Amino acid sequence: MNMLLNPLNRRDRLWHDIPVVPGAFPLVGHLPAVVYNLPRLLRRAERTLGSHFWLDFGPAGHMVTCLDSEAIALLRHKDVSSALIEDIAPELFGGTLVTQDGGAHRQARGAIQAAFLPAGLTHSGIGELFAPVIRAWVQRWRDRGDVNILRETGDLTLKLIFSLMGIPTHDLPQWHRKYRQLLQLIVAPPLDLPGLPLRRGRAARDWIDARLREFVRDAREHAARTGLINDLVSAFDRIDGALSDEILVANIRLLLLGGHETTASTMAWIVIELARQPGLWDALVEEAQRVGAVPTRHSDLAQCPVAEALFRETLRLHPATPLLVRRALCELRLGQRRIPGGTDLCIPLLHFSTSALLHEAPAQFRLARWLERTEPIRPVDMLQFGTGPHVCMGYHLAWLELVQFCIALALTMHESGARPRLLSNAEKGRRYYPTAHPSMNIRIGFS
Ligand code: HEM
Repeated sequence: MNMLLNPLNRRDRLWHDIPVVPGAFPLVGHLPAVVYNLPRLLRRAERTLGSHFWLDFGPAGHMVTCLDSEAIALLRHKDVSSALIEDIAPELFGGTLVTQDGGAHRQARGAIQAAFLPAGLTHSGIGELFAPVIRAWVQRWRDRGDVNILRETGDLTLKLIFSLMGIPTHDLPQWHRKYRQLLQLIVAPPLDLPGLPLRRGRAARDWIDARLREFVRDAREHAARTGLINDLVSAFDRIDGALSDEILVANIRLLLLGGHETTASTMAWIVIELARQPGLWDALVEEAQRVGAVPTRHSDLAQCPVAEALFRETLRLHPATPLLVRRALCELRLGQRRIPGGTDLCIPLLHFSTSALLHEAPAQFRLARWLERTEPIRPVDMLQFGTGPHVCMGYHLAWLELVQFCIALALTMHESGARPRLLSNAEKGRRYYPTAHPSMNIRIGFS
Protein backbone atom coordinates (compact mmCIF):
# COMPACT_ATOMS: atom_id res chain seq x y z
CA MET A 1 0.00 0.00 0.00
CA ASN A 2 1.13 3.53 -0.78
CA MET A 3 2.53 5.13 2.38
CA LEU A 4 0.46 8.31 1.96
CA LEU A 5 3.53 10.49 2.32
CA ASN A 6 4.17 13.66 0.34
CA PRO A 7 6.50 12.74 -2.56
CA LEU A 8 7.52 16.41 -2.90
CA ASN A 9 8.93 16.51 0.63
CA ARG A 10 11.99 14.24 0.65
CA ARG A 11 14.48 16.49 2.40
CA ASP A 12 16.41 14.98 5.34
CA ARG A 13 16.30 17.53 8.16
CA LEU A 14 17.37 17.67 11.78
CA TRP A 15 15.56 19.70 14.40
CA HIS A 16 17.19 19.97 17.84
CA ASP A 17 19.53 17.23 16.57
CA ILE A 18 16.62 14.83 16.01
CA PRO A 19 15.70 13.76 12.44
CA VAL A 20 12.38 14.89 10.99
CA VAL A 21 10.50 12.17 9.07
CA PRO A 22 10.26 13.32 5.42
CA GLY A 23 6.97 13.18 3.52
CA ALA A 24 4.81 15.61 5.53
CA PHE A 25 2.01 17.39 3.64
CA PRO A 26 1.16 21.06 4.24
CA LEU A 27 -1.47 21.47 7.03
CA VAL A 28 -2.03 17.75 7.73
CA GLY A 29 1.64 16.71 8.08
CA HIS A 30 2.02 12.95 8.44
CA LEU A 31 -1.57 12.43 9.57
CA PRO A 32 -2.68 10.49 6.45
CA ALA A 33 0.11 7.94 7.02
CA VAL A 34 -0.58 7.86 10.79
CA VAL A 35 -4.30 7.22 10.26
CA TYR A 36 -4.01 4.61 7.50
CA ASN A 37 -0.83 2.75 8.31
CA LEU A 38 0.85 3.78 11.54
CA PRO A 39 2.82 0.51 11.98
CA ARG A 40 4.38 0.82 8.55
CA LEU A 41 5.21 4.49 9.08
CA LEU A 42 6.94 3.70 12.39
CA ARG A 43 8.87 0.77 10.92
CA ARG A 44 10.07 2.82 7.99
CA ALA A 45 11.11 5.77 10.21
CA GLU A 46 13.01 3.40 12.51
CA ARG A 47 14.79 1.73 9.60
CA THR A 48 15.84 4.98 7.94
CA LEU A 49 16.25 7.39 10.87
CA GLY A 50 16.70 5.35 14.07
CA SER A 51 14.65 5.21 17.25
CA HIS A 52 13.95 8.94 17.76
CA PHE A 53 12.29 11.17 15.17
CA TRP A 54 9.82 14.00 14.72
CA LEU A 55 6.36 13.28 13.34
CA ASP A 56 4.08 16.08 12.17
CA PHE A 57 0.52 15.70 13.51
CA GLY A 58 -0.85 18.56 11.40
CA PRO A 59 -2.98 20.90 13.54
CA ALA A 60 -1.62 19.22 16.72
CA GLY A 61 1.97 20.10 15.75
CA HIS A 62 5.26 18.21 15.73
CA MET A 63 6.05 15.52 18.29
CA VAL A 64 9.23 13.68 19.14
CA THR A 65 8.41 10.01 18.81
CA CYS A 66 10.64 7.53 20.60
CA LEU A 67 10.64 3.78 19.96
CA ASP A 68 13.05 2.84 22.77
CA SER A 69 11.43 1.35 25.81
CA GLU A 70 12.58 4.27 27.99
CA ALA A 71 9.78 6.26 26.33
CA ILE A 72 7.37 4.26 28.50
CA ALA A 73 8.90 5.90 31.59
CA LEU A 74 7.79 9.30 30.24
CA LEU A 75 4.27 8.33 31.31
CA ARG A 76 5.44 8.33 34.93
CA HIS A 77 7.83 11.29 34.74
CA LYS A 78 7.06 14.18 37.09
CA ASP A 79 8.22 16.76 34.51
CA VAL A 80 6.02 15.42 31.74
CA SER A 81 2.54 16.93 31.42
CA SER A 82 -0.83 15.83 30.01
CA ALA A 83 -1.91 19.44 29.38
CA LEU A 84 -1.15 18.95 25.67
CA ILE A 85 -4.34 16.85 25.40
CA GLU A 86 -6.39 19.95 26.30
CA ASP A 87 -4.51 22.02 23.70
CA ILE A 88 -5.28 19.41 21.03
CA ALA A 89 -8.95 18.81 21.90
CA PRO A 90 -10.14 21.62 24.21
CA GLU A 91 -13.79 21.25 23.27
CA LEU A 92 -13.92 17.58 24.28
CA PHE A 93 -11.43 17.24 27.08
CA GLY A 94 -11.14 20.74 28.62
CA GLY A 95 -11.50 20.55 32.43
CA THR A 96 -11.33 16.75 32.53
CA LEU A 97 -8.82 14.79 34.55
CA VAL A 98 -7.11 13.30 31.49
CA THR A 99 -5.56 16.76 30.85
CA GLN A 100 -4.47 17.47 34.43
CA ASP A 101 -1.22 16.87 36.29
CA GLY A 102 -0.09 16.46 39.89
CA GLY A 103 -2.38 17.38 42.79
CA ALA A 104 -5.33 18.57 40.69
CA HIS A 105 -5.32 15.28 38.79
CA ARG A 106 -4.97 13.19 41.96
CA GLN A 107 -7.89 14.99 43.55
CA ALA A 108 -10.32 14.51 40.65
CA ARG A 109 -9.19 10.95 39.94
CA GLY A 110 -9.32 10.03 43.63
CA ALA A 111 -13.02 10.90 43.66
CA ILE A 112 -13.91 8.79 40.64
CA GLN A 113 -11.53 5.87 40.92
CA ALA A 114 -13.17 3.83 43.67
CA ALA A 115 -16.37 3.39 41.65
CA PHE A 116 -14.33 1.72 38.89
CA LEU A 117 -12.38 -0.73 41.02
CA PRO A 118 -13.77 -4.28 41.26
CA ALA A 119 -15.42 -3.57 44.64
CA GLY A 120 -17.05 -0.39 43.34
CA LEU A 121 -18.32 -2.09 40.19
CA THR A 122 -19.73 -4.95 42.25
CA HIS A 123 -21.34 -2.48 44.66
CA SER A 124 -23.19 -0.73 41.85
CA GLY A 125 -24.22 -4.06 40.29
CA ILE A 126 -22.65 -3.33 36.90
CA GLY A 127 -22.05 -6.97 35.96
CA GLU A 128 -25.70 -7.89 36.68
CA LEU A 129 -26.82 -4.86 34.68
CA PHE A 130 -24.67 -5.69 31.64
CA ALA A 131 -25.14 -9.49 31.35
CA PRO A 132 -28.75 -9.53 30.04
CA VAL A 133 -28.13 -6.58 27.70
CA ILE A 134 -25.15 -8.34 26.09
CA ARG A 135 -26.99 -11.66 25.88
CA ALA A 136 -29.99 -10.07 24.14
CA TRP A 137 -27.75 -8.15 21.76
CA VAL A 138 -25.82 -11.21 20.53
CA GLN A 139 -29.06 -13.20 20.23
CA ARG A 140 -30.12 -10.62 17.63
CA TRP A 141 -26.89 -11.29 15.74
CA ARG A 142 -27.66 -14.99 15.68
CA ASP A 143 -31.21 -14.32 14.45
CA ARG A 144 -30.00 -11.99 11.72
CA GLY A 145 -27.26 -14.35 10.51
CA ASP A 146 -24.74 -11.68 9.61
CA VAL A 147 -23.78 -8.24 10.89
CA ASN A 148 -21.57 -5.27 10.27
CA ILE A 149 -19.40 -5.91 13.27
CA LEU A 150 -17.96 -2.52 14.22
CA ARG A 151 -21.31 -0.76 13.87
CA GLU A 152 -22.87 -3.42 16.13
CA THR A 153 -20.19 -3.39 18.81
CA GLY A 154 -20.29 0.44 18.70
CA ASP A 155 -24.03 0.45 19.40
CA LEU A 156 -23.78 -2.26 22.04
CA THR A 157 -20.98 -0.57 24.01
CA LEU A 158 -22.82 2.74 23.83
CA LYS A 159 -25.94 1.11 25.21
CA LEU A 160 -23.87 -0.43 28.02
CA ILE A 161 -22.27 2.88 28.94
CA PHE A 162 -25.62 4.67 28.86
CA SER A 163 -27.15 2.00 31.07
CA LEU A 164 -24.20 2.37 33.47
CA MET A 165 -25.16 6.02 33.78
CA GLY A 166 -28.78 5.15 34.47
CA ILE A 167 -30.19 6.69 31.27
CA PRO A 168 -33.78 5.45 30.82
CA THR A 169 -34.27 3.13 27.82
CA HIS A 170 -36.79 5.42 26.11
CA ASP A 171 -34.24 8.28 26.09
CA LEU A 172 -31.50 6.16 24.50
CA PRO A 173 -32.15 7.08 20.82
CA GLN A 174 -31.83 10.79 21.63
CA TRP A 175 -28.62 10.24 23.64
CA HIS A 176 -27.30 8.16 20.82
CA ARG A 177 -27.87 11.00 18.33
CA LYS A 178 -26.37 13.65 20.60
CA TYR A 179 -23.33 11.53 21.36
CA ARG A 180 -22.63 11.00 17.62
CA GLN A 181 -22.88 14.77 17.13
CA LEU A 182 -20.54 15.33 20.09
CA LEU A 183 -17.91 13.18 18.35
CA GLN A 184 -17.84 15.68 15.49
CA LEU A 185 -15.81 17.92 17.81
CA ILE A 186 -12.84 15.57 17.24
CA VAL A 187 -12.50 16.63 13.62
CA ALA A 188 -14.31 19.98 13.58
CA PRO A 189 -12.47 22.76 11.74
CA PRO A 190 -12.35 25.92 13.90
CA LEU A 191 -15.31 27.57 12.14
CA ASP A 192 -18.27 28.32 14.37
CA LEU A 193 -21.10 28.71 11.83
CA PRO A 194 -24.63 27.22 11.76
CA GLY A 195 -24.69 23.68 10.32
CA LEU A 196 -20.94 23.14 10.66
CA PRO A 197 -19.48 20.39 12.91
CA LEU A 198 -18.15 22.78 15.57
CA ARG A 199 -21.56 24.44 16.11
CA ARG A 200 -23.37 21.08 16.06
CA GLY A 201 -20.81 19.38 18.32
CA ARG A 202 -20.97 22.22 20.86
CA ALA A 203 -24.77 22.13 20.89
CA ALA A 204 -24.68 18.36 21.51
CA ARG A 205 -22.14 18.81 24.31
CA ASP A 206 -24.36 21.46 25.94
CA TRP A 207 -27.35 19.12 25.66
CA ILE A 208 -25.42 16.21 27.22
CA ASP A 209 -23.99 18.42 29.97
CA ALA A 210 -27.44 19.78 30.85
CA ARG A 211 -28.75 16.20 31.25
CA LEU A 212 -25.72 15.19 33.30
CA ARG A 213 -26.30 18.19 35.59
CA GLU A 214 -29.84 16.89 36.15
CA PHE A 215 -28.41 13.44 37.00
CA VAL A 216 -26.09 15.06 39.53
CA ARG A 217 -28.96 17.03 41.10
CA ASP A 218 -31.09 13.91 41.18
CA ALA A 219 -28.28 11.87 42.75
CA ARG A 220 -27.95 14.44 45.55
CA GLU A 221 -31.70 14.34 46.21
CA HIS A 222 -31.62 10.53 46.46
CA ALA A 223 -28.24 10.08 48.12
CA ALA A 224 -29.14 6.67 49.58
CA ARG A 225 -29.66 5.12 46.13
CA THR A 226 -26.95 2.92 44.66
CA GLY A 227 -25.57 3.25 41.13
CA LEU A 228 -22.44 4.59 39.54
CA ILE A 229 -23.51 8.23 39.22
CA ASN A 230 -24.66 8.29 42.85
CA ASP A 231 -21.33 6.84 43.96
CA LEU A 232 -19.41 9.40 41.90
CA VAL A 233 -21.42 12.37 43.11
CA SER A 234 -21.12 11.44 46.76
CA ALA A 235 -17.36 10.82 46.35
CA PHE A 236 -16.94 14.24 44.69
CA ASP A 237 -18.98 15.96 47.39
CA ARG A 238 -16.75 14.46 50.09
CA ILE A 239 -13.60 16.16 48.66
CA ASP A 240 -12.26 19.01 50.81
CA GLY A 241 -13.21 22.28 49.08
CA ALA A 242 -15.51 20.31 46.75
CA LEU A 243 -14.85 20.66 43.02
CA SER A 244 -17.35 22.59 40.94
CA ASP A 245 -20.26 20.78 39.30
CA GLU A 246 -18.86 21.81 35.91
CA ILE A 247 -15.75 19.71 36.61
CA LEU A 248 -17.87 16.81 37.81
CA VAL A 249 -20.05 16.97 34.67
CA ALA A 250 -17.01 17.22 32.34
CA ASN A 251 -15.52 14.13 33.99
CA ILE A 252 -18.73 12.12 33.70
CA ARG A 253 -18.77 13.08 30.01
CA LEU A 254 -15.14 11.88 29.82
CA LEU A 255 -16.30 8.42 30.91
CA LEU A 256 -18.54 8.24 27.85
CA LEU A 257 -15.69 9.21 25.56
CA GLY A 258 -13.06 7.06 27.27
CA GLY A 259 -15.16 3.93 27.46
CA HIS A 260 -16.98 3.78 24.18
CA GLU A 261 -14.85 3.53 21.01
CA THR A 262 -11.98 1.78 22.80
CA THR A 263 -14.21 -1.03 24.01
CA ALA A 264 -16.19 -1.22 20.74
CA SER A 265 -13.01 -1.60 18.70
CA THR A 266 -11.62 -4.30 20.98
CA MET A 267 -14.91 -6.20 20.95
CA ALA A 268 -15.00 -6.09 17.14
CA TRP A 269 -11.41 -7.37 16.93
CA ILE A 270 -12.25 -10.20 19.34
CA VAL A 271 -15.05 -11.36 17.01
CA ILE A 272 -12.77 -11.04 13.97
CA GLU A 273 -10.04 -13.12 15.63
CA LEU A 274 -12.59 -15.75 16.69
CA ALA A 275 -13.91 -15.89 13.14
CA ARG A 276 -10.53 -16.31 11.53
CA GLN A 277 -9.10 -18.81 14.04
CA PRO A 278 -11.47 -21.77 14.47
CA GLY A 279 -9.32 -23.27 17.25
CA LEU A 280 -9.87 -20.16 19.39
CA TRP A 281 -13.62 -20.40 18.95
CA ASP A 282 -13.62 -24.06 19.99
CA ALA A 283 -11.58 -23.29 23.12
CA LEU A 284 -13.92 -20.45 24.05
CA VAL A 285 -17.07 -22.54 23.53
CA GLU A 286 -15.63 -25.29 25.72
CA GLU A 287 -14.95 -22.77 28.49
CA ALA A 288 -18.37 -21.11 28.13
CA GLN A 289 -20.13 -24.49 28.42
CA ARG A 290 -18.12 -25.37 31.50
CA VAL A 291 -18.91 -22.00 33.15
CA GLY A 292 -22.54 -22.23 32.00
CA ALA A 293 -23.54 -18.56 32.47
CA VAL A 294 -22.27 -15.06 31.82
CA PRO A 295 -20.10 -14.00 34.81
CA THR A 296 -21.27 -10.92 36.68
CA ARG A 297 -18.51 -10.24 39.21
CA HIS A 298 -14.76 -9.86 39.10
CA SER A 299 -14.43 -12.75 41.50
CA ASP A 300 -16.00 -14.99 38.77
CA LEU A 301 -13.47 -14.02 36.11
CA ALA A 302 -10.85 -16.51 37.28
CA GLN A 303 -13.15 -19.23 35.89
CA CYS A 304 -12.81 -17.75 32.40
CA PRO A 305 -9.06 -17.85 31.60
CA VAL A 306 -9.61 -18.37 27.84
CA ALA A 307 -11.92 -15.36 27.57
CA GLU A 308 -9.47 -13.28 29.62
CA ALA A 309 -6.52 -14.36 27.45
CA LEU A 310 -8.57 -13.49 24.37
CA PHE A 311 -9.22 -10.01 25.76
CA ARG A 312 -5.51 -9.45 26.58
CA GLU A 313 -4.05 -10.88 23.38
CA THR A 314 -6.54 -9.06 21.14
CA LEU A 315 -5.69 -5.76 22.82
CA ARG A 316 -1.97 -6.47 22.59
CA LEU A 317 -2.15 -6.93 18.82
CA HIS A 318 -4.86 -4.35 18.19
CA PRO A 319 -4.45 -1.66 20.86
CA ALA A 320 -7.39 0.72 20.61
CA THR A 321 -5.30 3.71 21.76
CA PRO A 322 -2.19 3.34 19.62
CA LEU A 323 -0.40 6.44 20.87
CA LEU A 324 -0.36 8.77 23.82
CA VAL A 325 0.77 12.39 23.79
CA ARG A 326 2.56 14.44 26.43
CA ARG A 327 4.61 17.65 26.84
CA ALA A 328 8.08 17.94 28.41
CA LEU A 329 7.93 20.67 31.06
CA CYS A 330 11.72 21.07 31.19
CA GLU A 331 14.74 19.62 29.43
CA LEU A 332 14.70 15.82 29.62
CA ARG A 333 17.14 13.05 28.76
CA LEU A 334 15.70 10.32 26.60
CA GLY A 335 18.37 7.66 26.07
CA GLN A 336 21.35 9.53 24.65
CA ARG A 337 19.19 12.45 23.49
CA ARG A 338 18.43 15.77 25.12
CA ILE A 339 14.82 16.83 24.64
CA PRO A 340 14.29 20.59 25.11
CA GLY A 341 11.67 21.81 27.61
CA GLY A 342 8.33 22.50 25.88
CA THR A 343 8.76 19.62 23.36
CA ASP A 344 5.64 17.64 22.57
CA LEU A 345 6.07 13.88 22.80
CA CYS A 346 4.38 10.89 21.20
CA ILE A 347 4.54 7.55 23.02
CA PRO A 348 3.53 4.85 20.52
CA LEU A 349 1.83 2.16 22.64
CA LEU A 350 1.16 0.18 19.47
CA HIS A 351 4.87 -0.14 18.82
CA PHE A 352 5.64 -1.42 22.33
CA SER A 353 2.75 -3.84 22.58
CA THR A 354 3.75 -5.46 19.28
CA SER A 355 7.51 -5.30 19.77
CA ALA A 356 10.08 -7.97 20.56
CA LEU A 357 11.34 -5.65 23.33
CA LEU A 358 8.46 -6.83 25.49
CA HIS A 359 6.99 -9.96 23.91
CA GLU A 360 8.31 -13.16 22.42
CA ALA A 361 7.15 -13.78 18.82
CA PRO A 362 5.23 -10.48 19.01
CA ALA A 363 3.44 -10.79 15.66
CA GLN A 364 1.79 -14.10 16.58
CA PHE A 365 -1.65 -14.29 18.19
CA ARG A 366 -0.96 -16.68 21.06
CA LEU A 367 -3.39 -17.27 23.91
CA ALA A 368 -0.73 -19.45 25.51
CA ARG A 369 1.35 -16.43 26.50
CA TRP A 370 -1.41 -15.55 28.96
CA LEU A 371 -2.72 -19.02 29.80
CA GLU A 372 0.67 -20.46 30.67
CA ARG A 373 2.12 -17.58 32.62
CA THR A 374 2.65 -18.07 36.32
CA GLU A 375 3.61 -14.54 37.35
CA PRO A 376 0.97 -11.82 37.91
CA ILE A 377 0.08 -9.29 35.19
CA ARG A 378 2.72 -6.51 35.17
CA PRO A 379 2.16 -2.88 34.09
CA VAL A 380 3.93 -3.57 30.75
CA ASP A 381 1.50 -6.42 30.08
CA MET A 382 -1.40 -3.97 30.09
CA LEU A 383 0.35 -1.10 28.38
CA GLN A 384 -2.62 -0.75 26.02
CA PHE A 385 -4.30 0.94 29.01
CA GLY A 386 -1.38 3.32 29.55
CA THR A 387 0.70 3.35 32.72
CA GLY A 388 1.50 5.74 35.57
CA PRO A 389 -0.91 8.23 37.14
CA HIS A 390 -3.19 8.34 34.09
CA VAL A 391 -3.47 4.57 33.62
CA CYS A 392 -6.96 3.78 32.32
CA MET A 393 -9.60 4.07 34.97
CA GLY A 394 -11.93 1.79 33.05
CA TYR A 395 -9.49 -1.17 32.97
CA HIS A 396 -11.51 -3.37 35.36
CA LEU A 397 -14.76 -2.41 33.69
CA ALA A 398 -13.42 -3.19 30.20
CA TRP A 399 -12.04 -6.51 31.43
CA LEU A 400 -15.39 -7.52 32.96
CA GLU A 401 -17.41 -6.28 30.00
CA LEU A 402 -15.25 -8.02 27.38
CA VAL A 403 -15.11 -11.35 29.23
CA GLN A 404 -18.89 -11.15 29.64
CA PHE A 405 -19.17 -10.50 25.94
CA CYS A 406 -16.97 -13.49 24.97
CA ILE A 407 -18.90 -15.91 27.16
CA ALA A 408 -22.30 -14.56 26.05
CA LEU A 409 -21.30 -14.84 22.39
CA ALA A 410 -20.04 -18.42 22.74
CA LEU A 411 -23.11 -19.58 24.73
CA THR A 412 -25.60 -17.93 22.37
CA MET A 413 -24.06 -19.12 19.12
CA HIS A 414 -23.32 -22.60 20.37
CA GLU A 415 -26.95 -23.11 21.45
CA SER A 416 -27.94 -23.11 17.78
CA GLY A 417 -24.76 -24.67 16.42
CA ALA A 418 -23.55 -21.39 14.87
CA ARG A 419 -20.02 -19.99 14.81
CA PRO A 420 -18.58 -16.68 13.57
CA ARG A 421 -17.33 -16.51 9.99
CA LEU A 422 -15.37 -13.70 8.41
CA LEU A 423 -17.15 -12.38 5.30
CA SER A 424 -14.68 -9.55 4.46
CA ASN A 425 -10.96 -8.84 4.41
CA ALA A 426 -10.17 -7.97 8.04
CA GLU A 427 -7.03 -5.98 7.26
CA LYS A 428 -8.55 -3.74 4.61
CA GLY A 429 -9.66 -0.29 5.72
CA ARG A 430 -8.43 -0.44 9.30
CA ARG A 431 -7.61 2.86 11.00
CA TYR A 432 -4.99 3.77 13.58
CA TYR A 433 -5.80 7.31 14.74
CA PRO A 434 -7.17 8.94 16.89
CA THR A 435 -8.43 5.55 18.06
CA ALA A 436 -7.57 2.38 16.16
CA HIS A 437 -10.33 0.18 14.82
CA PRO A 438 -11.13 -2.31 12.05
CA SER A 439 -12.95 -1.10 8.95
CA MET A 440 -16.55 0.05 9.36
CA ASN A 441 -17.47 -2.35 6.52
CA ILE A 442 -16.35 -5.69 7.94
CA ARG A 443 -19.14 -8.22 8.03
CA ILE A 444 -19.28 -11.32 10.19
CA GLY A 445 -21.67 -14.19 9.53
CA PHE A 446 -23.03 -16.53 12.21
CA SER A 447 -23.99 -19.93 10.85
C1 HEM B 1 -10.47 -1.67 25.85
C2 HEM B 1 -10.88 -0.61 26.46
C3 HEM B 1 -10.02 0.59 26.85
C4 HEM B 1 -8.78 0.97 26.46
C5 HEM B 1 -7.84 0.27 25.46
C6 HEM B 1 -8.46 2.19 27.16
C7 HEM B 1 -7.25 2.87 27.06
C8 HEM B 1 -6.90 3.96 27.85
C9 HEM B 1 -5.60 4.58 27.85
C10 HEM B 1 -4.42 4.18 26.97
C11 HEM B 1 -5.63 5.59 28.76
C12 HEM B 1 -4.46 6.51 29.17
C13 HEM B 1 -4.59 7.91 28.60
C14 HEM B 1 -3.34 8.73 28.90
O1 HEM B 1 -2.46 8.32 29.64
O2 HEM B 1 -3.28 9.85 28.34
C15 HEM B 1 -6.96 5.63 29.32
C16 HEM B 1 -7.39 6.53 30.26
C17 HEM B 1 -8.70 6.61 30.71
N1 HEM B 1 -9.71 5.71 30.46
FE1 HEM B 1 -9.60 4.07 29.27
N2 HEM B 1 -9.53 2.54 27.94
C18 HEM B 1 -10.50 1.58 27.79
C19 HEM B 1 -11.74 1.54 28.43
C20 HEM B 1 -12.22 2.50 29.30
C21 HEM B 1 -13.52 2.47 29.92
C22 HEM B 1 -14.54 1.35 29.77
C23 HEM B 1 -13.62 3.63 30.65
C24 HEM B 1 -14.76 4.12 31.54
C25 HEM B 1 -16.00 3.97 31.33
C26 HEM B 1 -12.37 4.35 30.51
C27 HEM B 1 -12.09 5.55 31.11
C28 HEM B 1 -10.85 6.15 31.11
C29 HEM B 1 -10.55 7.38 31.83
C30 HEM B 1 -11.54 8.19 32.68
C31 HEM B 1 -9.20 7.67 31.58
C32 HEM B 1 -8.40 8.86 32.10
C33 HEM B 1 -7.62 8.48 33.34
C34 HEM B 1 -6.72 9.60 33.83
O3 HEM B 1 -6.41 10.51 33.05
O4 HEM B 1 -6.37 9.57 35.01
N3 HEM B 1 -11.54 3.63 29.67
N4 HEM B 1 -7.72 4.61 28.76
